[in-house]
Amino acid sequence: MNPEMTLTDFMQSCQARAESALDARLPLATKLPERLHQAMRYSTLGGGKRLRPLLTYATGHALGVAPEVLDGPACAMEFIHVYSLIHDDLPAMDDDDLRRGKPTCHKAYDEATAILAGDGLQTLAFQVLATDPTISVPAASRLAMIETLALASGSCGMVGGQAIDLESVGRELDLPGLEAMHIRKTGALIRASVRLAALASPDLPTETAEKLDHYAKCIGLAFQIQDDILDEESDTQTLGKTQGKDRDNNKPTYPALLGLAGAKQKAEELHEDALASLAGFDERADYLRQLSAFIVQRRS
Ligand code: IPE
Ligand code: IPE
Ligand code: MG
Ligand code: MG
Ligand code: MG
Repeated sequence: MNPEMTLTDFMQSCQARAESALDARLPLATKLPERLHQAMRYSTLGGGKRLRPLLTYATGHALGVAPEVLDGPACAMEFIHVYSLIHDDLPAMDDDDLRRGKPTCHKAYDEATAILAGDGLQTLAFQVLATDPTISVPAASRLAMIETLALASGSCGMVGGQAIDLESVGRELDLPGLEAMHIRKTGALIRASVRLAALASPDLPTETAEKLDHYAKCIGLAFQIQDDILDEESDTQTLGKTQGKDRDNNKPTYPALLGLAGAKQKAEELHEDALASLAGFDERADYLRQLSAFIVQRRS
């Protein structure tokens, strides 16, 4: 991609790229069973910031990996993310009616279809990593991508974080407890989005991979802290999801524990830490630096 592009242009170009890559990899709405495939397409297409694909493409940009090689990994990350959102919104979990400015999957369809749409998207993510011909990397790298996504998605990653979230309702977590939850439920997928691109880079020095991983760990935590802040101080229209739900649902959050100012300071510290981890990278890592700033400054 053109290195002169501003972050806004880079984001728009990656979002458009991700949209058509997702569309091309989703089963057609006319394919049997139609209603399930329609639900998968309804929740995936035409919305969201596409932050995880953005991070995959931006990491590729920093390492000189072409976006064509990263469409599969970027889609796999977004498929897992959308599945996590569909299930997160179910009545048994956060019980939300609005997502990305439209009715949640179980509202637009029904609960059983929403559960199955999530299941279908999760499996599709692994199918893409295992078989997509555009992921032109050695077989061992492809396998490492599959392992990375499995670990990040499963009971020690996102699903585990969601379990901690649900069992913590109405309880007060201390700071390490809150961090352990956020690192899993949101941080793990953000970290995997960066790592999948690193795995597509041949002969990447371990030290470089570790610096990228630390960057991703910092921004992953900062991302969920900002999500908690926005749930407190934004509005439903801007968010595209119902504001104030964490407080209503008695969720342990950073603002609840540290106050809004304390939570903002923590997010800012993580942003600084993320930038420090990229100190040895050249200007091709500027999109990663700017995305870290975007994560703590975003309003939706
Ligand atoms: C929302 O994620 C859920 C969290 C993990 C905090 P995003 O804020 O990335 O949601 P979209 O993809 O832009 O809708
Ligand atoms: C969701 O966290 C994290 C995952 C979906 C894995 P939240 O419950 O805070 O996300 P929102 O606020 O509903 O988007
Ligand atoms: Mg939740
Ligand atoms: Mg939620
Ligand atoms: Mg939230």
